[in-house]
Amino acid sequence: MAYLLSKENFAKMSEFIYRKSGIFLEEDKHFEKLAKYIDSRCGALSFDNFRKYFFKLRFEDKDGEEFQALMNGITVNETYFFREKDQFEVLVNTILPELHRAMPASKPIRILSSPCSTGEEPYSIVLHIVEEGKVVEQRDIEVVGIDIDSTVIKKAQIAKYSDRSIHAIPKNILSKWFTKNTMGYELSKDLQGSVDLQVANVFDKAQMRKLGKFDVIFSRNMLIYFDDASRKEVAMTFYDMLNPGGFVLLGHAEYMSRIVSVFKARKIDNTLIYQK
Ligand SMILES: C[S@@+](CC[C@H](N)C(=O)[O-])C[C@H]1O[C@@H](n2cnc3c(N)ncnc32)[C@H](O)[C@@H]1O
Repeated sequence: MAYLLSKENFAKMSEFIYRKSGIFLEEDKHFEKLAKYIDSRCGALSFDNFRKYFFKLRFEDKDGEEFQALMNGITVNETYFFREKDQFEVLVNTILPELHRAMPASKPIRILSSPCSTGEEPYSIVLHIVEEGKVVEQRDIEVVGIDIDSTVIKKAQIAKYSDRSIHAIPKNILSKWFTKNTMGYELSKDLQGSVDLQVANVFDKAQMRKLGKFDVIFSRNMLIYFDDASRKEVAMTFYDMLNPGGFVLLGHAEYMSRIVSVFKARKIDNTLIYQK
């Protein structure tokens, strides 16, 4: 099949995407997906060649909409509730009680889900916090979710989920906090709005600074799409965003020790967590 994107232009596009988002596309794995996206975008814009599209993306995108559409088209948003659930248990059984003991009573505990995709991760955090109950009865806990893809943030705000998304939620929790209707499973209105959801790029220092300081950062299954230099940059951004003693949790295939050495690694019940 002939695409508007050639192999030479793939290199230019992937370099541009890498510089702006840290996402590292490889020709053998990602050519077809990017080429199909560019064909469909050029069709919508009535462009008959790649050059026109690339020019628009680089020089005629003052409001960033074309770049946003590109991000929405190429990101991998796979996620589900209670994914790698041991980490949520370590959060409520170990991390929150430790933070609660160490922090002044008036300070809220702040948790960032970066990236949050369609919301399953930050809502899983909230579900564990309310189900466990003890710390949240005594102190404010704020949960913020960010993602570079604006379509997933919109879905997270609507909070309606498919069978696949909810498959790992225990039945008693599902029936307590979700309503089943023809659209799937809708998260309880009490919990919708419990997460502050925003579009943000982890490489945009100004956007990240605006989110403020956190005590816990979940960053699961995003660093795998970056190369070493980008992983290092993001790890140091998280380090700067954490209060002293704050925690980072990564995906099971991601290891902080291979990225930077500024965090202390701790193993709790077979779960690795990292502390500032
Ligand atoms: C596979 S999902 C992981 C979602 C969730 N953390 C989990 O583990 O289930 C990866 C997400 O990273 C987001 N992402 C990729 N690059 C990003 C960037 N530079 N800034 C913020 N989010 C990014 C994608 O849009 C996608 O939704």
